[in-house]
Amino acid sequence: MAWNRTLFLIALAAIAAAIVGCKSPGPNAAGAGNGGSGKIIIGHYASMSGDDAVFGTTTDHGAKLAVEEINAAGGVLGRQIELITLDTRSTDVGVPPIIDRFYQEGATAIVGEVASGRTLAAAPKVEAYGIPMVSPSSTNVRVTVDPDRGVRKWVFRTCFIDPFQGEVIARFAHGKLGKRRAAILFDRAQPYSVGLAESFKQNFIRLGGQVVAEEGYTKDDQEFGSQLTRIKGLDPDVLIVPGYYSQVKLIVTQARGRGLDVPIVGGDGWDDPQGLTRGAEQAFKDTYFVNHFSPLEEREGVRQFVEAYRQRWQEDPNALAALGYDAVQLVADAIKRAGSTDRTAVRDALEKTQNYAGVTGTISVDAQHNPRKTAVVVKAEGSPFPLVDVYPPQ
Ligand code: PHE
Repeated sequence: MAWNRTLFLIALAAIAAAIVGCKSPGPNAAGAGNGGSGKIIIGHYASMSGDDAVFGTTTDHGAKLAVEEINAAGGVLGRQIELITLDTRSTDVGVPPIIDRFYQEGATAIVGEVASGRTLAAAPKVEAYGIPMVSPSSTNVRVTVDPDRGVRKWVFRTCFIDPFQGEVIARFAHGKLGKRRAAILFDRAQPYSVGLAESFKQNFIRLGGQVVAEEGYTKDDQEFGSQLTRIKGLDPDVLIVPGYYSQVKLIVTQARGRGLDVPIVGGDGWDDPQGLTRGAEQAFKDTYFVNHFSPLEEREGVRQFVEAYRQRWQEDPNALAALGYDAVQLVADAIKRAGSTDRTAVRDALEKTQNYAGVTGTISVDAQHNPRKTAVVVKAEGSPFPLVDVYPPQ
């Protein structure tokens, strides 16, 4: 395992060196975006394989659908869009060489990543190169705001942020479920999980609840027995798991196996509609998570998107697919408003985005480069996951 990973890293470094070495940055790469009359390149970096493969593949389906629709309608500024998707393999180290490659290719803009940690791995590079980047779904605060340097000039996103998501989990657990003694089990290695756990905690305490346990795990853990045993001993009435879907599945199953029968609540990282509960239906009874979108929402534009997506991919879109679609459409809209593929002009247009009607809601970019959007809470049971609650931004 460790050896495989080392080999993979060496191979990745070699590929990156080869790409950077054999292609000097041409006129396309010199900050202008790919000007001229050829295709407009949008780079998409995503976890197409590895632990979080569902994140990358579903986002890519949404992104591809957007590109196909735009191109079928004549493209942008009379030019076709070409989406170049590269695989991060669900690793942070996979990210920087990909951003180098997009720069070399003359990408006008970049879409990605899903996991906040990997978007954070890309941020310094896109800032240095001056390429506009839109994360479809990374919710950690630091994605758009560097704690030391302030707002990142070139980074945007199409989703709400974790201070809001954590508040929604807290309001749901406290208000809707009526719980008062929460235990948290979070991934210490993911900025997403750390930030969301913290935001939940602050809000739950503010509402009058108590956090009776905070336990951690890290990325490759498969056994959560000792943490769950300690948690059970403290007699919580709700368990909060702000993790990513593959480990969430293990945690929920092992919690039930240890007789921890309280409701379990999580965040958007649970969003694997096909696989999350499969073979673990009993364990997932009484579990819920916050998300950005549900195919069951009645909002305008949702039904049309869901139908187009089903036709193209023979499955229901998850939130990631919808956000991937919105991210590409927003970039195309910004290029159109800029009237050019000049990267600075596209960045400026992204920053000026107001009331953009996305499938996942209305997007207005604020001073921190974040939109304020509605969250949904779904029950992790059946397909599609039933909609339980809706939380507009406050
Ligand atoms: N918000 C998560 C993160 O920032 C990623 C995610 C978004 C996962 C939406 C699933 C659905 O890491």
